[in-house]
Amino acid sequence: MSEEHDRIFIRNFSIVIVALMAFTVLIILLSLAIHQTQEREPSAARIAAVEERLQPLAGVYAGETGRAAAQAAAAEAVAEEPEVAFGGSTDGEMIYERVCAACHDAGVAGAPTLARETWGDRLDQDREALIASVIDGLGAMPPRAGRADLSDEQAAASVDYMLDHLD
Ligand code: HEC
Repeated sequence: MSEEHDRIFIRNFSIVIVALMAFTVLIILLSLAIHQTQEREPSAARIAAVEERLQPLAGVYAGETGRAAAQAAAAEAVAEEPEVAFGGSTDGEMIYERVCAACHDAGVAGAPTLARETWGDRLDQDREALIASVIDGLGAMPPRAGRADLSDEQAAASVDYMLDHLD
């Protein structure tokens, strides 16, 4: 009697175990199937592109919160302004070579070169006037020598380089 009882128990127990295992496999297969149907995580570049497209064409600001938002937008725009040429370097020689030499080495369009005699009475002017000529432009020399991002300090540094190297 007891042996019969054990046999029934073991059979039922096995059925439960097998059923649980089958259920586990089923859940795994189901989750894999659901995973397949999900969209892949969008890439950072894709997210950036979508955000770019969602940007408004122009900002409209109204009221007190609008004023704060407008100021924040203006501050952001200022922060995005192009940097000063050559990372702000005031290395006169480097600036002369990169910007000024194109005209001044050969004396293009009557540009004075590093030879003192080509300057004539330009040297009667003071340093500030020469720097101002570079900043404002003079004759065939465009304002800031054609580099709008050239700072006043950089114009001064390159003029100083020229004046120091006249022979
Ligand atoms: C596109 C050619 C060109 C470039 C680039 C250029 N210059 Fe000139 N520069 C000239 C010409 C041409 C003159 C003479 C203008 C005149 O007197 O009509 C001149 C004149 C000058 C003068 C004399 C100004 C005066 O008041 O007589 C100085 C100083 C000078 N350049 C400095 C520089 C410096 C510094 C740079 C670089 C940051 C530079 N130039 C870049 C063409 C150029």
